[in-house]
Amino acid sequence: MDKAKRKAIIAGNWKMNKTPKEATALLKAIAPLVADADCEVIACVPYVDLAAAIEATAGTNIKIGAENCHWAESGAFTGEISTGMLKEVGVEYVVLGHSERRQYFGETDETVNKRTKAALAAGLKPIVCVGELLWERECNITEEVIARQIKLDLWDVTEEELKNVVIAYEPVWAIGTGKTATSDQAEEVCAFIRAQLAKLYNQDAADAVTIQYGGSMNDGNADELLSKVNVDGGLIGGASLVAEKFAAIVKAASK
Ligand code: 13P
Repeated sequence: MDKAKRKAIIAGNWKMNKTPKEATALLKAIAPLVADADCEVIACVPYVDLAAAIEATAGTNIKIGAENCHWAESGAFTGEISTGMLKEVGVEYVVLGHSERRQYFGETDETVNKRTKAALAAGLKPIVCVGELLWERECNITEEVIARQIKLDLWDVTEEELKNVVIAYEPVWAIGTGKTATSDQAEEVCAFIRAQLAKLYNQDAADAVTIQYGGSMNDGNADELLSKVNVDGGLIGGASLVAEKFAAIVKAASK
């Protein structure tokens, strides 16, 4: 990563794990281990854990994120959560367009874009996830897939707003599979994402965007992945649920 140009960010994506009590315990265990981190540390947690998580991390350097948000301010959208609701409880970040949302809940680039625009308008910082399926990589269309996602997900996002956007490159075949992209594969696509941003905006704007890698990142491979110039952090699933492992990744990003 290039810390001179952009922030290193390690974010946990807890997915559908941990009750509010368990969330408090895990965050209390993580906090002292990451207190001297030289990178941003975020935990993105289930909606019902948010209040407990914000309370548990008060006065620490851990920031709290949600795992999704709706684009409407309010209305007849059973089961959805608005940006205003997240803001009021003190959420700063929100994961959007995660491949599990795309795969299991019908999210499209259009809805990811609507959510991204709404999050930015509300003053939340979206972590926008992109990534190719294994089949798409095998068919050699990784770059087409990523270019399309970046263009559509960030459609109508201004250069000013882009300053608050984090991109997470998560190859779908590497998520929860124990199969990590090699550091060269991660670098190749993260660099490609930055080149796309430079085309859509300009080089300076692109250079300032934090681009994370996600997909089986852990305490054993974080050093190598984060040594790459365009890999500015990680979006961590499984390993973010174990305090020591998450802290070790934060340490790797702090170097
Ligand atoms: P794993 O780290 O469990 O592979 O999950 C990655 C991920 O999907 C983070 O958003």
